[in-house]
Amino acid sequence: MNILVIGSGGREHSLCWKIARSPMLDQLYVAPGNGGIGDLATCVNLDAENHDEIVDFCRDKNIEFVVIGPEAPLVNGLSDRLTSESITVFGPSAAAAILEGSKGFTKDLCAKYNIPTAAYGRFKVAADAKEFVASKGTPIVIKADGLAAGKGVIIAENNEQAFAAIDDILGGQFGEAGAELVVEEFLIGEEASFFVLTDGENILPFGTAQDHKRVGEGDVGPNTGGMGAYSPAKIMDPAMIQRTIDEIIMPTVKGMAAEGRPFKGVLFAGLMITDKGPELIEYNVRFGDPECQCLMMRLDSDIVPALMACANGTIDQMTTEWSDKVALNVVMAANGYPGSYEKNMEIKNLDEAGNAENIVIFHAGTKKEEGKILAVGGRVLNITSLSPSVSEAKNNAYEALDKINWKQGFCRRDIGWRAVEREET
Ligand code: AMP
Ligand code: GLY
Repeated sequence: MNILVIGSGGREHSLCWKIARSPMLDQLYVAPGNGGIGDLATCVNLDAENHDEIVDFCRDKNIEFVVIGPEAPLVNGLSDRLTSESITVFGPSAAAAILEGSKGFTKDLCAKYNIPTAAYGRFKVAADAKEFVASKGTPIVIKADGLAAGKGVIIAENNEQAFAAIDDILGGQFGEAGAELVVEEFLIGEEASFFVLTDGENILPFGTAQDHKRVGEGDVGPNTGGMGAYSPAKIMDPAMIQRTIDEIIMPTVKGMAAEGRPFKGVLFAGLMITDKGPELIEYNVRFGDPECQCLMMRLDSDIVPALMACANGTIDQMTTEWSDKVALNVVMAANGYPGSYEKNMEIKNLDEAGNAENIVIFHAGTKKEEGKILAVGGRVLNITSLSPSVSEAKNNAYEALDKINWKQGFCRRDIGWRAVEREET
């Protein structure tokens, strides 16, 4: 069958890399893709906001299955439109994507269905939000309600920072996404990501991971989309996974169905493992990036039937096989990220760097021009290794990364530190 992937990040490169291995595939297209995906798929310049254009392309190229990578097209209803045109699609409806599109919605759902999460309040008026902060104390977390490209969460250490964040958000810093905000209790523990595929009724666990969101080594500095990840996450042992399924995932899947918003796709739970157990920090309605790349390297089974089963209501009949190895990746970003950065810098020596058998270099913000690879984004490359242990995956990833010739790029040198420490004790 012919398949179209929507997106341009490392996540979509890794999805294409995995889909390209499927015996079910005839032609693979990606819109818009990036400088690395062109070797696996035909890159096409379609606008994910223009649903007519996507539908016309699908008709023209006999696309039978569309995989939507990022959250914005899901929140904007691309999945609904393709479904109404009888094109099978991986990715939830807009009504279900609200789990990522509105943090307030998700908090209310947690309250209604008894899902463990931080205590919270929802506010549209700054004075009310400030009164709530004053009554709760700090540290406290302030979140824009809507999609803010990962930047809408502020951890305030004192009232002054909290009040400033409230004024910024309700004052329009994030546009419509900040018309409302959530104030929530600061949770203490270790963060982990848990992924499940679901058809709205049943679930298939689809791996665990840990990301490194802060830009600086030792987890300091501003939040980013993610500077590196590994899978599996040791803290998510079988007992913790089962508790997460019983206490968080299944109540959500059942709750969403009861609300008339059945969720079909990948549910990505951002968890805090506290001394009470797993608590939900947030849901994402798509794969994490860079986490997805680690999952794709570890997945031994064909991914296409698993993704299709979400739309077809057959998740209960699916099983998947995973490698026992560890996948770890390190993000190379352009100097200045997550702030402003230069563009169109040439990156050299990628072929040699990616040569080792255990390494795949997934591209994000790159483009290919006259045979050269140019950096055109914030997060640019993801050097991913599949190796027997976290320490080996880490060493192999950095060994490959150090062969890349790109002076204006940087990375964190400590990806996986927590897991390496665990391995050593
Ligand atoms: P989010 O975009 O909701 O994932 O939040 C970004 C990051 O902020 C998370 O990965 C956590 O590190 C942190 N965070 C969000 N909510 C909380 C909370 N209630 N308590 C502690 N940390 C939080
Ligand atoms: N890496 C975190 C995310 O994709 O949201």
